[in-house]
Amino acid sequence: MKKLTGSNKIKTAVFISGTGSNLKSLYKFSKLKKSPIKISLVVSNNFKAKGLIFAKKNKIKTKIYEFKERYKYENKIINDLKKNKIKIICLAGFLRILSNNFIKKFNNKIINIHPSLLPRYKGLNTHYRAIKNKEKFSGCTVHYVNSKLDSGKIILQKKVRISKYDTQESLQKKILKQEHILYKKALIKVFSKT
Ligand code: GRF
Repeated sequence: MKKLTGSNKIKTAVFISGTGSNLKSLYKFSKLKKSPIKISLVVSNNFKAKGLIFAKKNKIKTKIYEFKERYKYENKIINDLKKNKIKIICLAGFLRILSNNFIKKFNNKIINIHPSLLPRYKGLNTHYRAIKNKEKFSGCTVHYVNSKLDSGKIILQKKVRISKYDTQESLQKKILKQEHILYKKALIKVFSKT
């Protein structure tokens, strides 16, 4: 892989809906020499998303869209992504489903992190369901986004043991810690091939 500097790093948009701990971790990573990405835009469907405060503090451009009419707002997002020359989208706790039209426009350019060992536990409440089913392991997955929910090609996964003392909250905490590590590794893997 050619040496990346600030100016030739891949312009990335991070989509969030809430806390933004993955955004924070990706941002810190993006500042390192070894990072292939540079975060040029943060997109949110929720103007109350805590992650927006972090983005603003760090002078990352933010765009907030209310998603009442999906097609209308997706078109606005697409325009903004183009304007900002965004080459890759990292979904990080983004709680909206993108349309097929949007996904096709960014074919193989949208990456997501999901808090389970896909293909198990697609969708929401993954920790609750894993504990309820008495799973011994759960984990997290970084994958490409395709038209089916949480079903795109897997880039990397990390297994996390579920102890008998784990609650939904403790498991979420353990997995989130691993998510922060995994997302960076996955991006390095994706761009070391290009
Ligand atoms: C993470 O667990 C992510 O996998 C899921 O939503 C959560 C977002 O956390 N899709 P944060 O906003 O990055 O802290």
